[in-house]
Amino acid sequence: MTIWRIDAKLAELSETEGFRHACSTIVAGDLVAVPTETVYGLAADATNPLACAKIYSAKGRPSFNPLISHFSNTTDARIHGLFDARAEALAEAFWPGPLTLVLPRREGSTICDLVTAGLDSVALRVPDSPVMQALSQATGRPLAAPSANRSGRISPTTAKAVDEDLGDAVPVILDAGPTRVGVESTIIALIDKEARLLRPGGIAREEAERVLGGPLCGPTGSRGDAPAAPGMLLSHYAPRAKVRLDAHSITPGEAYLGFGPVPEAICEIAGARLSLSETGDLAEAAAHLFSHLRALDASGAPSIAVAPIPNTGLGEAINDRLSRAAADRTGAGARTD
Ligand code: TXA
Ligand code: MG
Repeated sequence: MTIWRIDAKLAELSETEGFRHACSTIVAGDLVAVPTETVYGLAADATNPLACAKIYSAKGRPSFNPLISHFSNTTDARIHGLFDARAEALAEAFWPGPLTLVLPRREGSTICDLVTAGLDSVALRVPDSPVMQALSQATGRPLAAPSANRSGRISPTTAKAVDEDLGDAVPVILDAGPTRVGVESTIIALIDKEARLLRPGGIAREEAERVLGGPLCGPTGSRGDAPAAPGMLLSHYAPRAKVRLDAHSITPGEAYLGFGPVPEAICEIAGARLSLSETGDLAEAAAHLFSHLRALDASGAPSIAVAPIPNTGLGEAINDRLSRAAADRTGAGARTD
C-alpha cells in the first residue's frame, strides 16, 4: 500500500503522480482511500461490481448495506436519480457539501446492484472535496465510497487512521490532511411524500428544514426499531473502551471526553482527557469527534466518560455517533456496519 501526500489546494492536482496513480487504480477496478470534507472514503468505480465487491471485503461489511455514490457535480448525479423539486432545492443549497440524497433510481443508471444492495433507490452525493471531485471527474466514473474504516470501527478523519485500520487491504491512500467536517454526511430520503432524515450528519436538520420549508421526519431506528438507513445499525463507531454518556463526573482511571473547558475536578483524576471544543463550538466538536475518540481509546483506559453535548445543530449528529459508540455490542441488535 502507498500513501501519497496531496496538497488539496494545489491547482495542478491532476498533474501530480499520486493523483494520476489513484485514477489508474480506480479505472483498473481497485480501491483508493480518498479524503472527503466529512471523513476519508474507500472509493471504487460504482459501475464496476468486481471493484465494489472489494470495498465490502476490505471493510468486512455485511453486503446488504448499500453505498453512497459520489459525483463532481449535480448534472452527473441527475443521470442516476430522479430529482423532484425538493431534491433540486436541497442540491442547490448544499452541494457541493456534506449532504446525501436517497432518491428513486433512474432507469438506465449504470450504478451496479452491489452499490444499491438491490434497492430501487440510490444514495447520491456531491462532496465539497477537491480531491474526491477531481477523482470522479478525471475517471469519468461515479465513485462508490463508504467511510474507510473496518466495519464497526470509528470513521477515519486522517490518512494515518485509514492506514491503521485497513492497512494492506487498500492499495492507495491519498492524504490531504485531516478532514474539515469530521462527521459523515446528513442522509435525507426523498422517495415518497415524506422527506425523511435517515442519518443526522454534517448539515444540521434545522438548515435542511429551512430549505424544504417544513419538518423532516425521522430518524427512526436508532434504538431498537429496524434501521432507518440500512447501515444505521445500533452498535457502530465502536472504540475498544466502553463509552459512558452524559457524564458529569468520572471514576479514577477513566478517560474523559469533554465539551467546553474540562472541569478542574476532572483534570485531577482523569488519566487521558480531551475536549471536543474548549469554546463549546459544535462544528469544531464534530471535526474532533472521531480523532479524539481514537486517541482516548489508544490511551488504554477501560472506559471513556463523555460530557453532555447539546442536541441542536451538529450536536444531533455528534450525539447519534456517540450513542452508537456507547451501544451494547453483545446484545440483540449489536451488529455493526
Ligand atoms: O460522509 C459520508 O457520507 C461518507 C463519505 C465517505 O462520503 N460516507 C459514508 O458512507 O458515511 P457509509 O457507507 O459509511 O454510509 C452510507 C449510509 C449507510 O448507512 C447506508 O445504509 C445508507 O447510507 N444508504 C446508502 N444507500 C441507501 C439507500 N438506497 N437507502 C437508504 N440508505 C442508504
Ligand atoms: Mg461508515
